[in-house]
Amino acid sequence: MHHPLHTPICDYFGIEYPIFLAGMGGVSASALTAAVSNAGGLGILGGATMDVALLREEIKKTKELTDKPFAVDLLAPIPDMIRPQIEVVFEEDIRIFVAGLAVPAEFMSEMHDRDMKIVVMCGKVRHAEKSEAAGADVVAAQGTEAGGHTGEIGGMALIPQTVEAVNIPVLAAGGLANGRGLIAALALGAQGAIFGTRFIATPEAEAAPGYQEALVAAKDDSTVRSRSYTGKPARALRTERTDEWEAKADEIQAFPMQAGISAREGVMDYMGRGDHFDPKRMFMPSGQGVGLIHEIKPAAEVFADIVSEAEATLQELTKLATPATA
Ligand SMILES: Cc1cc2nc3c(=O)[nH]c(=O)nc-3n(C[C@H](O)[C@H](O)[C@H](O)COP(=O)(O)O)c2cc1C
Repeated sequence: MHHPLHTPICDYFGIEYPIFLAGMGGVSASALTAAVSNAGGLGILGGATMDVALLREEIKKTKELTDKPFAVDLLAPIPDMIRPQIEVVFEEDIRIFVAGLAVPAEFMSEMHDRDMKIVVMCGKVRHAEKSEAAGADVVAAQGTEAGGHTGEIGGMALIPQTVEAVNIPVLAAGGLANGRGLIAALALGAQGAIFGTRFIATPEAEAAPGYQEALVAAKDDSTVRSRSYTGKPARALRTERTDEWEAKADEIQAFPMQAGISAREGVMDYMGRGDHFDPKRMFMPSGQGVGLIHEIKPAAEVFADIVSEAEATLQELTKLATPATA
């Protein structure tokens, strides 16, 4: 018998719990992806910042670390930009593909021919409808609370409206960082919840120590949605640099030019690959739920906490809904 958190989407993806690791570009690499899959959720490898060789290597490493299902996420705004990575996804026989930023219409029929499942990240009901029409199997309703590139609509409003608008399963994302968040997502009609920022504060994440420490110190009002790092609105910890650029917002370039400016300035290394980390200027993507992160601990512990909190929350709710006997 399954535990009470098991939703139909768990069977669809072959996982135990409806807990998903966000496919955070570069941050969700093999170690974190495998840790979440091994814990019984779905790890999503964030391939967005990886070149073809690194993506292949990270997929192979993930396969060595887990025999459970996992997915690969790529950003799909410019199809030609990700074509080589898509070839790797095909060659490595990835079963679940997650698309950020746009509907990967061009690749969908081939993916379905290969019997792959396609999840599309959406910030608006209209995007979810478009994704469903294009053949997506699942949509993720990502509220503005989310870390990284994000839209304007709060999850509390977006998730139930997405559930009402489409006939395919919906996942919830954005600002969720504990078991209460998972239960809230299920109550809003989602079949599972995607956690991004919470999993950055784990040793398995590819994240600079200064970034992880900044997340632990941050509160609910520490983030800002700004175009200043990539040219597209992205939620990150507010820094001196975000303040400077927001004061001259008309000078911010379009995506991906602004990302080039930021890279040349050395402020895009939140993964900590280099040795220069300036917390006053670095891009540190973060969701608004960051105030719930109090320590850096192994992903399996974060995962187990989400499960036990969610179960406790369900019990609390059941008590609330059950009239006390006199
Ligand atoms: C560091 C970071 C990188 C991200 N990169 C991607 C990405 O490459 N592709 C994508 O679909 N979403 C990306 N996201 C968004 C996540 O998929 C997810 O929607 C978000 O993390 C959920 O909100 P939360 O961070 O508040 O949990 C990123 C988020 C963060 C924090």
